Amino acid sequence: MTAEPMRLGVCYYPEHWPETQWADDAARMVAAGLSRVRVGEFAWSRIEPEAGRFDWGWLDRAIAVLHAAGLGVILGTPTATPPKWLVDTMPDMVALDADGHPRGFGSRRHYCFSHAPYRDEAVRITRAVAERYGQNPAVVAWQTDNEYGCHDTAISYSASALKAFRHWLKARYGTIEHLNQAWGNVFWSMEYPSFCAVDLPNQTVTEANPAHWLAFRRFSSDQVAAFNRAQVEALRDLSPGRDVMHNAMGFFTQFDHHDLAADLDVVGWDSYPLGFLDSFRFDAADKLAYARQGHPDIAAFHHDLYRGCTQGGRWWVIEQQPGPVNWSAHNPAPLPGMVRLWTLEAMAHGAELVSYFRWRQFPMAQEQNHAGLLRPDSSAAPGLAEARAAADDIAALGPAGAATRQAALVFSYDADWITQIQPQGRGFSALWAAFECYSALRRMGLNVDIVPPGRSLDGYALCVVPCLPHVPEGLVGELQNFAGQIVIGPRSGSRTAEFAIPDGLAPGVLRPLLPLKVTHVESLPPGLSHQGDGWHAARWLDHAEGDAEAEFVAADGTVAGWRYGRTRYLASWPERDLVDALLGRAAGDAGLACHTLPDGVRLRRAGELTFAFNYSAMAAELPRSQAGTPILGARRMDPASVCVLKA
Ligand code: GAL
Repeated sequence: MTAEPMRLGVCYYPEHWPETQWADDAARMVAAGLSRVRVGEFAWSRIEPEAGRFDWGWLDRAIAVLHAAGLGVILGTPTATPPKWLVDTMPDMVALDADGHPRGFGSRRHYCFSHAPYRDEAVRITRAVAERYGQNPAVVAWQTDNEYGCHDTAISYSASALKAFRHWLKARYGTIEHLNQAWGNVFWSMEYPSFCAVDLPNQTVTEANPAHWLAFRRFSSDQVAAFNRAQVEALRDLSPGRDVMHNAMGFFTQFDHHDLAADLDVVGWDSYPLGFLDSFRFDAADKLAYARQGHPDIAAFHHDLYRGCTQGGRWWVIEQQPGPVNWSAHNPAPLPGMVRLWTLEAMAHGAELVSYFRWRQFPMAQEQNHAGLLRPDSSAAPGLAEARAAADDIAALGPAGAATRQAALVFSYDADWITQIQPQGRGFSALWAAFECYSALRRMGLNVDIVPPGRSLDGYALCVVPCLPHVPEGLVGELQNFAGQIVIGPRSGSRTAEFAIPDGLAPGVLRPLLPLKVTHVESLPPGLSHQGDGWHAARWLDHAEGDAEAEFVAADGTVAGWRYGRTRYLASWPERDLVDALLGRAAGDAGLACHTLPDGVRLRRAGELTFAFNYSAMAAELPRSQAGTPILGARRMDPASVCVLKA
């Protein structure tokens, strides 16, 4: 948590606008309360119009103009958009999709992470930009590339990927016998005679071996991290002392962000709550109720996830939705007040920066319907005044204090790959199990930190492990030493690191905490459920036996929740009523003060402040159980409003 007030910024593309406009743009940014500006991340064709010929003049002048206005520049490396001349010199640098089709030129992200000559080119252009601007006082930070994996690009099935995968397998398994044994390749005569004989897992007749898929997913993730690391090393060399950040996305698990973050100072993320609500698996009622606000847990979930990615907990919102976007099936405008609300919510969760995407709507090309803070004719769009209002609020509030530790929620990317590879029941996903548990904790008004397995649990009263099929070393010991209440969710401990059922069956290495044996699992079709007292179990059942107490037992005897000492086991999908009941008991036993919040209202405590956010389209009253005096807003909260209480 920084002692400085949160900053505001904006994403700007000087190359899109006449140079005569830059100074006025910069002055208006400052007048709007912005102090950071991100530039350059797609500008390769303007920086290096042909191989080896650099045109720095325009960027020199743009950076100078922004700096002169008082803005700190966050400079992007332009590697998400390799220009046409480069693609033409190495046509095999493009990624191939799962059907073997090349991802062609004409948009962005058309490169394969495993293509070694392209990686060299990415380092070359990074070094060129960093040599030019690495010591420039205007440049305060770097962004590597842009949204690794966006448009489904972290995974490539190219010849370069195949070659690199075989090397990766050799390094991991040593001998082909070991690989065959680890994957269980005796099944269906899948044994390989050598590493050179192993193919990628796409294009098999029916599903490929899940262990093969998991290895390929881990490899693909490692390729992203290695690609990023090569740029980070160049930046650290040529621009020491500046923060290096990458911008992550929403509900995106194609690579392990904990690994990526190990090389970064700051994790950024791109927050588009309305686009995410419309594009992802929210039910129709929520999509309607929150169409102009976003589901109340979408932004917060990612704030808490990405804050947990770096050891230091430093994170930014580097792209904040300022109005309608262009890329979802439906693109409504935010309710008046939401841009300010999203901004202050990021502050409440400890962001150092919120930067709006983008400054001015561009009247051409793919994103012409994507709002900016300005309209294409430079008149102010609604987001501009809300950014200004948020800047005033931030100044009035001063820095938020350190967040109160209440609940830790353990999430791993590996877990999500396992449930994607082998859902066993349609829609079963470790990511969405995590989101459901997170939402339940937030409905109780709790602060949640999302942490990787093995991170210290000191200071928390409750630890929730929503779904962790493979439990990495470190977590069991951490949980055994943890004094608080523990909740473990379905399928946890059900697989080894190599995607096999563990000896002694699930929950495997978690057995010291849960003396149970999962004898069999079931996934249930829609409509088939087991009714309990105020809850129901649906979608998934881990049937277990053992010494724990059956705590949530349906009328027909089906056990949906177990308890052993301070550990609870949710043996079914976290349906809202069931997870509310089970987590409610765990939070109560943990001594956490929970609240019954009106629909759409959420809280976040930081230092002496409690922030309340009304995501509902209706007015709402803060419950009496939440003490404090408003220093911003009022306890009776209008739609899309914020209230900040001081203890
Ligand atoms: C992000 C991306 C931006 C822009 C934006 C539009 O995914 O990083 O470049 O395309 O979406 O919402």
